[in-house]
Amino acid sequence: MSDYRESPGFSRGKEVNDIDFDGPRGTRTHELAAVVALADAIFKEGMGPQFPTLFCEQNGEGLRTFWRDGQPAALVGVWRGTAVVDGRQADVAHIGAVCTRPEYRGQGLATRLLLEVLERLRGEGRALALISGGRGLYRRLGAEPFGTLLRCRVRPSAAPQGRRPAVDVATPAAVEPMAELHAREVVRYRRGVDDWRRLAAAKGYLPAGRGRSAVLVRRPGAAAPSAYLLLGRVRRPENPDAGPTVLLIDEFGGDREALWEALPAVLAEAGAEVAELLAQPGDGALRVLCQAAGAAMEPCRHQGTALVLDPDAFTQMAGIAAEPRPWPPLGGEACGARAAALLARGFAGGLQWPRTDGLNYI
Ligand SMILES: CC(C)(COP(=O)(O)OP(=O)(O)OC[C@H]1O[C@@H](n2cnc3c(N)ncnc32)[C@H](O)[C@@H]1OP(=O)(O)O)[C@@H](O)C(=O)NCCC(=O)NCCS
Repeated sequence: MSDYRESPGFSRGKEVNDIDFDGPRGTRTHELAAVVALADAIFKEGMGPQFPTLFCEQNGEGLRTFWRDGQPAALVGVWRGTAVVDGRQADVAHIGAVCTRPEYRGQGLATRLLLEVLERLRGEGRALALISGGRGLYRRLGAEPFGTLLRCRVRPSAAPQGRRPAVDVATPAAVEPMAELHAREVVRYRRGVDDWRRLAAAKGYLPAGRGRSAVLVRRPGAAAPSAYLLLGRVRRPENPDAGPTVLLIDEFGGDREALWEALPAVLAEAGAEVAELLAQPGDGALRVLCQAAGAAMEPCRHQGTALVLDPDAFTQMAGIAAEPRPWPPLGGEACGARAAALLARGFAGGLQWPRTDGLNYI
């Protein structure tokens, strides 16, 4: 493992006394409640139910911790998954719920947990770590904002009007039809039906809750639904002159024309004037519809930052030329700079990436 003491974040703090802290290590089943309580205390209540694939017994090894006096002192949460993009796939990891109890901060605990985790993930041949933030702690290791999405704002007037809607819009009874449509998307994370069920309930899409809901779009008479949408919150302006009421669409899949035709009904139901979708740059069908309707489109970054772990896995996934070896040890400045440069090269080469929020957020 690279020496965490050389990382700039660490050198500003006191040295970790290895005798005082037990770790870095995973979380045992009987310790899970204490780790969730730490995350609840630092972030917000309800972290366990909100992130069911992170805070669960099966992911004990992914909850990397330092312990002191029988209590967790610091935590780095890791979820392992697979991204599928344009027919290629790569194993990746999401990192979140990074926290240190206030009394133990500034001693290098978070830096050390992160380095241990990243070293492991790199050893597993994982292409990327997607990190739920952009603070110095991550940036010093080489994590950078990444990718491009197109933020499309669609007004109902931009969608077909004056004729009978060509689609039916309904609340799905179960996740299976959405899971099937999602599995055909060209840019996505692999998500089994069980994960669909757990995540959709936890985040409040199905059953609907906390201002979120799900919609299934079907062409009349069709045996199977054509598209689905996961609806996020409605953003209301402070006063009517401050702009339109916007419905945030957190995820969608399936036939883009069916989806498009469903928008007026979906907006009317939500009481919103504008739908905001984040499209992949390569989503030609959606771009054509947006362009024809004069919908506003602007590029934006993904949420969080990304760090290249295994250069071979990443270049393969991105379909770009391989990186010369050797690759410097993680944690050093040389590695951080090369990771950032390679990340930029991959996305400049046209790599697309699934949204890291919504159901894909650990
Ligand atoms: C961010 C956090 C996890 C860092 O934990 P830590 O164990 O103190 O981290 P380290 O000692 O390894 O040092 C890294 C961080 O501490 C800061 N730090 C280093 N030495 C320090 C010291 N002596 N005193 C105070 N802060 C210090 C560094 O500036 C760095 O923060 P940065 O990311 O803003 O640059 C902790 O402050 C925390 O729990 N914050 C609240 C939760 C949070 O914001 N999590 C991140 C979500 S993206």
